[in-house]
Amino acid sequence: MTGDVRPFHRFARWYDLAMPGVDADALRSALELAERPVRRGLDVAGGTGRAARGLPDVEWTVVDAAQGMLTRAADRDLAAVRGDAARLPVREGSVDAVVVVDALHHVADQSEAVREAYRVLRPGGVLAVADFDPRTVRGRALVAAERAVGFDSTFREPTALSADLRRAGFSTLVPEPGFAYVVAGVKPSDG
Ligand SMILES: C[S@@+](CC[C@H](N)C(=O)[O-])C[C@H]1O[C@@H](n2cnc3c(N)ncnc32)[C@H](O)[C@@H]1O
Repeated sequence: MTGDVRPFHRFARWYDLAMPGVDADALRSALELAERPVRRGLDVAGGTGRAARGLPDVEWTVVDAAQGMLTRAADRDLAAVRGDAARLPVREGSVDAVVVVDALHHVADQSEAVREAYRVLRPGGVLAVADFDPRTVRGRALVAAERAVGFDSTFREPTALSADLRRAGFSTLVPEPGFAYVVAGVKPSDG
């Protein structure tokens, strides 16, 4: 286990007690941008499946690198598969949506994770990334707090992340700006 994965494996038992629910409305707005029905989705770096549980209308598979987190997801009857966000164990063009919630900043190769999301999406499918803007006051505090506890996180502002999505081939939108933002990318229907 590398980087930020081991602490999550160890902390998994208490994770859901420490975390509030996800902002399901913001994620739903992003998924509504899909140009196809959203039936199957991947909750990448999905941990205990917090996002998947918040959006119960989609058939989710949780992919995470920390076995402890996945065990909690499986305990909640979610399909759970161990894997790296930058090398998804999933066929090309096999899902309608990918969500990465409060997690991309922990992934070592974020650009590769974005390219992987593009690969596994069907044309017209949507990627929604929920993360935190390090330029805001709360963002600066969060960056400092994660450093203090030893995380190797890299927070990106929404414009920089959007540019990454466009380089991978997505057309992009920021449906939810601010400290806790959501960036969405749609894979072109002819992509
Ligand atoms: C803050 S948790 C977020 C979990 C979940 N998305 C949520 O919203 O509750 C970050 C997660 O990213 C996972 N993670 C970190 N690096 C990863 C990688 N390269 N591939 C897959 N998962 C990774 C960790 O194991 C952890 O479960």
